[in-house]
Amino acid sequence: MSGPIEASATPRVVVGVAGGIAAYKAVGLVRELVNRGAHVTVIPTHSALKFVGLPTWEAISRNEVPLDLFEGVAEVRHVALGQKADLVIVAPATAHQIAQIAAGFAGDLLGTTLLATTAPVLLAPAMHTEMWQNPSVVANMATLVSRGYHVIGPETGALTGGDEGPGRMSEPAAIADYAWTLWGPKPWAGTRFLISAGGTRERIDPVRFLGNRSSGSMGVALARQALRAGAEVTLVASHLDMPPPAGVTLVQAPSVHDVRREMLEHQPSADVVVMAAAVADWIPQQYHEQKITKEDVGEVWQPVFERAPDVLQELSLRATPGQRVIGFAAETSADPQERESRARVKLDKKGCHVLVLNHVDDTVGFGEVETAVTIFSQASPQSLSVEGTKDSIAERLLEVLLDR
Ligand code: CTP
Repeated sequence: MSGPIEASATPRVVVGVAGGIAAYKAVGLVRELVNRGAHVTVIPTHSALKFVGLPTWEAISRNEVPLDLFEGVAEVRHVALGQKADLVIVAPATAHQIAQIAAGFAGDLLGTTLLATTAPVLLAPAMHTEMWQNPSVVANMATLVSRGYHVIGPETGALTGGDEGPGRMSEPAAIADYAWTLWGPKPWAGTRFLISAGGTRERIDPVRFLGNRSSGSMGVALARQALRAGAEVTLVASHLDMPPPAGVTLVQAPSVHDVRREMLEHQPSADVVVMAAAVADWIPQQYHEQKITKEDVGEVWQPVFERAPDVLQELSLRATPGQRVIGFAAETSADPQERESRARVKLDKKGCHVLVLNHVDDTVGFGEVETAVTIFSQASPQSLSVEGTKDSIAERLLEVLLDR
């Protein structure tokens, strides 16, 4: 057994912030990027600083914030930041900023950085609906898209001053998800991943269900990392505690029967199939159209549950040549050896190519936490321990799949 591996890489991200009220949301974006391990340099425009001040940007990015074109001249900062960046994000991209980028203006540090970079640039527009739909903005956006700029949003929703419509900047996590797909090597380009995530809910009556504690974070992390590695991803989502990553094809599958139907339907076109969902093992034998009342039941309720189909087993049986099927095992035993021997048995019983053992109990394993997993494979008698965030584990799992 090899020792624990901490998988990570540090992208250098420049976040340009233009002068719009959504600058306050860009604070959340910077924090999100830093939490995900990016080295972030914020370049606020002078108008952006009227909305959010310099100390906030420095504190949240944990980095010096350059402001002026004539600072750091000796290190040629006006182009160096763009040259060194793995990615540039402009959030919010205001109508004025979009016009400046489309015209190639170089009058401030953000302008020179954008002109000097060869990294992907992601724009997160935010403005009032009338401005977003104005022909000047529409034409500028068309120009930028035709030059390969990436765009996320704007979303439709509440705008400043009580207006509503398209113009809201996308949420920080969605922008970070998209950004994450834009940098780094693309070893899985041209492939398709089919990933189930979240916990199923088996309905008992209109107000009750049998569920589980899965948050969906492992499956969502895998989807995010697969997208980042260049794959196309279909996410079959049961109940998730977080939004799915921007860029996936989303299929809702609340119950085990929905998961089974969707996974089997999409399996033939997938190169990698991952069952990261916590799927029910039992289903209520009967669904009650009306809420079950205390008068119906009395003091002790003994609902009857029947065994659910084993989706992973079925997917493994139907795997096409070259297709990889990955399962997860949630084990609660406190004894690591017992967990591992149970995982080995599960790998054989389920017939998948790779099984990822996850230790779960009251205090470990669920949600956005650092965790440790052990990866077992049919192809090798050796297992591999990986620890870190769910994203770093997902990243490592993809590397293992490539190796094998
Ligand atoms: N799984 C599935 N269909 C089910 C139950 C589980 O496809 N009805 C999949 C899960 O998505 C996971 C793997 O099987 O990839 C193992 O799930 P786990 O809950 O650890 O094991 P179970 O098969 O449910 O066995 P047990 O609960 O008896 O340990």
